[in-house]
Amino acid sequence: MPHPSIVILTGAGISRESGLATFRDADGIWATVRIEDVATPRAFARDPARVHGFYNARRRALADPAVQPNAAHHALVELERRWPAPVLVVTQNVDDLHDRAGQRNLIHMHGELARARCRLCDAVTEWREDLSTDTACPACGRTGGMRPHIVWFEEMPMQMEAIGAALDACGLFVSIGTSGNVYPAAGFVAEVRGRARTVELNLERSAGTTMFDEAIHGPATVVVPGFVRRLLDAA
Ligand code: APR
Repeated sequence: MPHPSIVILTGAGISRESGLATFRDADGIWATVRIEDVATPRAFARDPARVHGFYNARRRALADPAVQPNAAHHALVELERRWPAPVLVVTQNVDDLHDRAGQRNLIHMHGELARARCRLCDAVTEWREDLSTDTACPACGRTGGMRPHIVWFEEMPMQMEAIGAALDACGLFVSIGTSGNVYPAAGFVAEVRGRARTVELNLERSAGTTMFDEAIHGPATVVVPGFVRRLLDAA
């Protein structure tokens, strides 16, 4: 198949060189705070102020002008624009660096830091400020219902049907900057193996490296542009 449709899964590693922490590296987010305390529905029910504080800090970090899309984000936008078949980026990341780089065919399967959701009316609103239990919903006006528009552990990731359809149709699956520890994303490569060519681009071997036809290890800002150039030169 000369120009297969492409599905690209990205994780925190693609944003690392933009200055955002990953989760499971030695200096990662889960080295300083416990998932059970800030990233589950029970944590939010138990202590909403603590959960809001965790995401407010990450939303502020994302607003830092020094945090910009990097060469890896831009390479994926060029691939989407120049590849003669569909390219879908499915990101586990809740930062908006793919969006700001100009990626159009993009699914945030774990939600987005820059959005808030009202549990009382389900409205999802772009949100760049701090959130608290006192925040009034811009849609229904009520307070007490606003939460980060983030998929917590034990919650269903977003747009799984669209992701499944794209995986079924793709001829090339590329995993970038993810440790392969969290399902269902970590299971995508097993879903497409044998039907699609599978490639891992990561700083180092991941938990799923052996599942891939090819693994290219190095920093995303080096290996992703190089991989995209190789694809487009052969297109
Ligand atoms: N370039 C490429 N890869 C990198 C870089 C870099 N500069 N720096 C780190 N990495 C790699 C690490 O080697 C690691 O394999 O990125 C991966 C990051 O893995 P995690 O920290 O586990 O992040 P991720 O895989 O995105 O986590 C998945 O887990 O906590 C949940 O919801 C959260 O979306 C997140 C999910």
